[in-house]
Amino acid sequence: MIIAVDGPTASGKGTIARALARHFGLPHLDTGLLYRAVGQQVARHGGNPDDPADALAACNFPDSLLADPALRSEETGGLASRVSIHHAVRQALYERQRAFATRPGGAVLDGRDIGTVIAPEARAKLFITASVDARAQRRFLEMQARGAEVTLPAIAEDLRRRDERDRNRTEAPLIPASDALIIDTSALDKDAAIQAAIEAVEETDRLN
Ligand code: DC
Repeated sequence: MIIAVDGPTASGKGTIARALARHFGLPHLDTGLLYRAVGQQVARHGGNPDDPADALAACNFPDSLLADPALRSEETGGLASRVSIHHAVRQALYERQRAFATRPGGAVLDGRDIGTVIAPEARAKLFITASVDARAQRRFLEMQARGAEVTLPAIAEDLRRRDERDRNRTEAPLIPASDALIIDTSALDKDAAIQAAIEAVEETDRLN
């Protein structure tokens, strides 16, 4: 069984995908980490993330890099969003994601285009969303807890910029698959969001 979990930054899709993987006993891939790794490598090599050739040259990173906590920074997220608009980058990362999605026992993948491009045949497709305010608030508390000096308006502005780039790019833009179940987590706490996702997967599984 493939479970596709898509949605914008800070929607809760990562938390939900991890919980689904645990609940259904499936391996999980956070595909945003792949784009983050490319963004980080471009910057480290002094390349330009907006240049397709520089970004493509950074796609050959070892899997071990995916465990680097620095990939999770806001700055790397911004670089990831920039390199992810290039066709060559998406193509270079496709096989890695596809191989994971088609593992014999099934898998959970979260990202932006899992239900539309990477695994359109997925048994369950969830699109996790939440208002900009709710997402900014969550990100703010998360970053404050880590001791980062941030303000709520600056985070909201950054989320808007990232949403806009992810939604308006020509290739594999962030849109729900036509058969995706949409879960709005604005008014849900973590446990309620996870429960809603588990029920949505069980329901689609019954119908298929
Ligand atoms: O989910 P995230 O914040 O880690 O993703 C970082 C960026 O990577 C996101 O802004 C767009 C890009 N991305 C993508 O284009 N396709 C995916 N499947 C996952 C992430």
